[in-house]
Amino acid sequence: MQGLMPTCKLITVIPAILLLLGLMTGVAHGRRRLVSSHDGEPCLNMTVYYHDILYDGTNTANATAAAATQPTLLSRSVSINDTYFGEIVVFNDVVTAAPALASAPVARAEGFYFYDRKEALSAWFAFSLVFNSTAHRGTLNLMGADLMAEKTRDISVVGGTGDFFMARGVATLRTDTFQGLYYFRLQMDIKLYECYV
Ligand SMILES: *[C@@H]1O[C@H](CO)[C@@H](O)[C@H](O)[C@H]1NC(C)=O
Ligand SMILES: *[C@@H]1O[C@H](CO)[C@@H](O)[C@H](O)[C@H]1NC(C)=O
Ligand SMILES: *[C@@H]1O[C@H](CO)[C@@H](O)[C@H](O)[C@H]1NC(C)=O
Ligand SMILES: *[C@@H]1O[C@H](CO)[C@@H](O)[C@H](O)[C@H]1NC(C)=O
Repeated sequence: MQGLMPTCKLITVIPAILLLLGLMTGVAHGRRRLVSSHDGEPCLNMTVYYHDILYDGTNTANATAAAATQPTLLSRSVSINDTYFGEIVVFNDVVTAAPALASAPVARAEGFYFYDRKEALSAWFAFSLVFNSTAHRGTLNLMGADLMAEKTRDISVVGGTGDFFMARGVATLRTDTFQGLYYFRLQMDIKLYECYV
């Protein structure tokens, strides 16, 4: 009988919580909440390009990313190709509005990825897009599996700050260019389905 006590209390508390949530829906910090339930109708969308310039031992001035851990021995023991299993790369990469590296920067991408599959190349990303311009100020926080064999793959936009207060959505990644081991560019189509404006 005693075991039931907490449940009884919850039953009286839950309606109160639901009422409170109900009152908050639609407004947060004086902002209006926009939620889109349709794939084709995001409340905000943007296409940006992520440039990963890895440190190769000589490009000190230009590199914006570097391996923070080396691959584990496992990455070579199961495959004749190194799959970098266990390698972690930390980056503070430039993000531009157009594909060219020299085009206008819109944000920095600050975070890391690691290689997480022994048989083939596969990675996992977690980073913030840090905006600090007249157009946007704030962050978008992204994370998810980068299934590199796929032509496009989706990762989650799990939150945001500033102009992107409490945003949520999906970012579709496409490898735009791959130059050897030390440079690649991703096209990111970012679509937000929850915006507070
Ligand atoms: C993305 O936003 C632009 C305006 O910035 C708009 O023209 C376009 O239709 C939007 N695309 C989608 C899929 O909502
Ligand atoms: C560094 O970047 C500059 C311009 O951004 C480029 O001209 C130069 O070739 C790059 N150096 C290396 C070593 O990649
Ligand atoms: C190693 O890579 C080559 C070229 O990408 C590919 O053809 C081959 O199947 C790979 N071998 C293994 C064991 O994954
Ligand atoms: C953001 O931009 C402002 C104005 O250009 C600058 O003073 C400030 O240092 C920047 N902040 C960061 C974190 O880069």
